[in-house]
Amino acid sequence: MHFLSVDDFSKEQINEIFDIADDLKKGRLAISLKERSVLALLFQKPSTRTRTSFEVAIVKLGGAAIYIDPSTSQISRGESIGDTAKVLSAYVDFLAARMFSQNDLLELARNSSIPVINALTDTEHPTQALADLYTILQAKKKLKKIRIAFVGDIAANTANSLMLAGAKLGAEISLVGPNGYQPNPVYFTKAREFSRVEAHDEIKDGVADADIIYTDTFVSMGQEKEAEKRKAFFSKYQVNSSMLNYAKKDVLVMHCLPAHRGEEITAEVIDGPKSIVWEQAKNKLLLEQAIILYLSEKKL
Ligand code: CP
Ligand code: NVA
Repeated sequence: MHFLSVDDFSKEQINEIFDIADDLKKGRLAISLKERSVLALLFQKPSTRTRTSFEVAIVKLGGAAIYIDPSTSQISRGESIGDTAKVLSAYVDFLAARMFSQNDLLELARNSSIPVINALTDTEHPTQALADLYTILQAKKKLKKIRIAFVGDIAANTANSLMLAGAKLGAEISLVGPNGYQPNPVYFTKAREFSRVEAHDEIKDGVADADIIYTDTFVSMGQEKEAEKRKAFFSKYQVNSSMLNYAKKDVLVMHCLPAHRGEEITAEVIDGPKSIVWEQAKNKLLLEQAIILYLSEKKL
């Protein structure tokens, strides 16, 4: 089994992964990797958290990691994704890939005989979404009817994954972004099959009763050429202390990181008492371990 999209897992499967994470936390794990497994990381985009935590995750499970830099591999000279996948499948046991295109990731998975994990594409960031939802569950003790306001770039990869996985688990999702700027229609439509999911352009309405306010950069990797335009376009949707006043009193603030203080979020908020971003980042390691263990038990 691969993990390419949050849509690969049902609510029950996500809860099984959360149970593995709980067991890992308590040191009472029932399953372990069957052999000294090797995880290859193929990253076309930069990363601090996901790369490091995946490398640590597999080592902590008794395996080893290999980082493949596309610019120093034959991919840079035109070797196809399919051929690369077939060869890597012969050497390693898992592949975590950070790609620009979701289609390239699907191509990688189609040609792999080992589990492929999406470590972020332009369309999704599913391992992040599971770590985020696990963090919310720990903080709020439930996910059902928990109201998550995703503010800013509501069409970002992180928004797509969080809205669909969150809705599957019964959370309510409010997507708050500029008038005329739409969420990804595929994820929005699917998410609405599971829970209350709305889009707002009025901040007051969008964050009303929010248990969680979540934001991400206004300029995702690959959008650098439009940076100034995007920063101006989304600027009104900065997460700041006056926005928090519209939410519940016990609202918590999340950000997948890296953060840009003074752009999508103020220093006062991200470094303030309502921020749980460091716990959120920490949980990436735990959930990645749980995902690797879960996939190791499944057949492709
Ligand atoms: N949140 C996240 O994926 O961070 P990195 O880009 O540093 O991996
Ligand atoms: N939306 C951001 C997430 C970074 C973890 C990006 O794609 O750059």
